[in-house]
Amino acid sequence: MQIIKTIDELRQIVKGWRKEGHSLGLVPTMGYLHDGHKSLIVKAVSENDKVVVSDFVNPTQFGANEDLSSYPRDIVRDAAICEEAGADVVFHPEPEEMYYPDSSTFVDMDRLTKDLCGKTRPTHFRGVCTVVSKLFHIVTPDRAYFGQKDAQQLAVIRRMVRDLDFGIEIVGCPIVREADGLAMSSRNTYLSAEERKAALILHKSLELGERMIQEGETDAAKVKDAIVTKMGTEPLAKIDYVELVDVETLEPVDTIKGQILAATAVYIGKTRLIDNFVSN
Ligand code: PAJ
Repeated sequence: MQIIKTIDELRQIVKGWRKEGHSLGLVPTMGYLHDGHKSLIVKAVSENDKVVVSDFVNPTQFGANEDLSSYPRDIVRDAAICEEAGADVVFHPEPEEMYYPDSSTFVDMDRLTKDLCGKTRPTHFRGVCTVVSKLFHIVTPDRAYFGQKDAQQLAVIRRMVRDLDFGIEIVGCPIVREADGLAMSSRNTYLSAEERKAALILHKSLELGERMIQEGETDAAKVKDAIVTKMGTEPLAKIDYVELVDVETLEPVDTIKGQILAATAVYIGKTRLIDNFVSN
């Protein structure tokens, strides 16, 4: 497995693979890999001849007061995980390689990016769409793999690929959790022991909502209220949002029928965590 730091070098490698007729999968990440990321890489390896994992903490998707400088990084450990999972290349550019000092072109999106995480992170999805577009152009994959953990991001990427005719298959992958139910996240490393325990409230509250739906509840407001109330039993948790929306359009739903996404973002101390489930 190779670690590649420049766009030119990666393009050369991809060109060689294409000449040999190989199919190509891409797994975009910001590194500090855990078993959630690894599940995406393993799936990509099982479905493609060659797999590129990008490992890049993308500055343009962080807001001014967010955790860009403190975001955890460990390329040595990441490379070992990628190799073990069967990846062929880790693309690990410096920010200067990805962005010109006077970069002035961005990929932005209406509607899907305005609510949920977009409310508190108004420039986040512009950064995500821009960097993912760049990675798509650099790697030109047949398939790209994204986690359901970031449900809004997955819907946004699907919409972007549709609207801009990228011709890339977007593969959504299930949320990987710790044994006690906490969704794996690079940001879990910010949690103190006490906060780590408190963070379980996200999954517990969502589970309650999911059970209500499974038992036949169709009133979205009732499910949302139950999730919010349960969340409120944890003193360290401060809700950013709890929303029940259409899984594709991300428009709020009143009545639960078909596939709906129940998504939440919650501050545990200073750390903002997200989680969700899709019911059908
Ligand atoms: P990052 O947070 O590193 O996540 C990379 C990919 O791993 C995303 O598709 C995310 O949904 C998935 N992932 C994270 N935790 C997961 C879990 N517990 N189970 C399953 N999948 C999980 O998302 C980003 O990076 C960035 O926004 C990126 C798309 C790379 C653009 O910079």
